[in-house]
Amino acid sequence: MDTKNIGLRDIEVADTKISDIDGERGKLIYRGYDILDLTKNSTFEETSYLLLNDDLPTRTELEEFKQRLIDARDMPRQMQSNMRNWRKNADPMVMLQAFVVALAGYYDDKGENDEQINYQSAINLISKMPTIVASWERVRTGKDIVDPDPRLSHAANFLNMLVGEKPDAETERIFDICLILHADHTFNASTFAAREVASTGAHMYSAVSAAIGALSGPLHGGANHEVMKMLLEIKSVDNAESWVKERLNRGEKIMGMGHAVYKTYDPRAQVLKELSKRLAKKTGQPWYDITEVVEETTIREMKKQKGIDIYPNVDLYSASLYYMLKIPPDLNTPIFAISRVAGWTSHVIEEKFARAAPKPVLYRPKATYVGKYCGPQGCEYKPIELRQ
Ligand code: COA
Repeated sequence: MDTKNIGLRDIEVADTKISDIDGERGKLIYRGYDILDLTKNSTFEETSYLLLNDDLPTRTELEEFKQRLIDARDMPRQMQSNMRNWRKNADPMVMLQAFVVALAGYYDDKGENDEQINYQSAINLISKMPTIVASWERVRTGKDIVDPDPRLSHAANFLNMLVGEKPDAETERIFDICLILHADHTFNASTFAAREVASTGAHMYSAVSAAIGALSGPLHGGANHEVMKMLLEIKSVDNAESWVKERLNRGEKIMGMGHAVYKTYDPRAQVLKELSKRLAKKTGQPWYDITEVVEETTIREMKKQKGIDIYPNVDLYSASLYYMLKIPPDLNTPIFAISRVAGWTSHVIEEKFARAAPKPVLYRPKATYVGKYCGPQGCEYKPIELRQ
């Protein structure tokens, strides 16, 4: 087997107009716009519109889009009661995946082949996923669910539903920037999972639920939870260097470091690093400083041990940042999901209705069979009593 095909690295499977990464120069664009510009000037609502449509909205289009998002925030009441029956220590990613696909049960017409219905499903998912995540946090900690507040922005509404308190303007903006930064990233594992499911003609909720499953893995979105576990284990700046060296000497990976596409600093990590530093100054907590030592030590050791240049990815500094925003670490990955859903749904729509080239087809890669071979007739089936 040609080794370059392992993990489908460098294999182009479709054209996309949604986003692009320049891994050599550390650039990420959404529909032609630099992510760094969007973090300075845009909001998550506007960025979601941009991803779902082909360009930035006019003022009227944005107002209409925001209203549609606000109108879709509520979660069905029956789902709230169902949530109360779950084990309180259920993994929030499992909850999210299950409740996202359960949402489909509330729609008779899921519009597998209707673009407008898919667009409304995208709005539903972008709006309802934060409600599901925040409601689960309230239920599992024995608190009342906080209803969505139509006066609040997408970012502020989520934090309000999560902690039962409106965030200050700085916290709202920091969280909004995090949502913008995580909203899309071309054909990453979860987006590819969504597109692959969509290519079968399945509905949007199924595709997004599959994407959530893919995101949950520690090599993908699950890394930001692993990073916070690592920081909590390291505890203090003084322990950080030796902790990292020990892990690397044992051949283990340092979560939040390395990337399949970026060969330089991930632009999202740069922004998150600055925000984490800002919050560390405000809160006096050590997590930013520890992360910086983790970064520096990993870079130095990887160069020394393997001659490899390695850089932080999006998960390294988001972990400390969310922790300082008082978000429980096991919600780091669900929060990644409530942002990335804007990208997933845009990709599902593109996969189904707007692919430039090649024409949409069912994804069906090939594998090399290296299993048992007993000749052209196949192996002889032995009755169970004759097997040893
Ligand atoms: N810590 C230690 N070593 C690492 C590493 C890390 N985070 N990331 C890569 N490496 C090493 C690998 O062990 C490998 O060494 P080897 O050639 O001696 O086996 C080499 O660098 C190349 O790694 P590889 O896994 O082939 O690189 P990749 O580009 O395919 O991997 C990731 C990308 C993301 C899977 C990988 O960097 C990783 O597992 N990172 C940690 C998990 C993480 O943060 N995921 C979130 C991604 S956004």
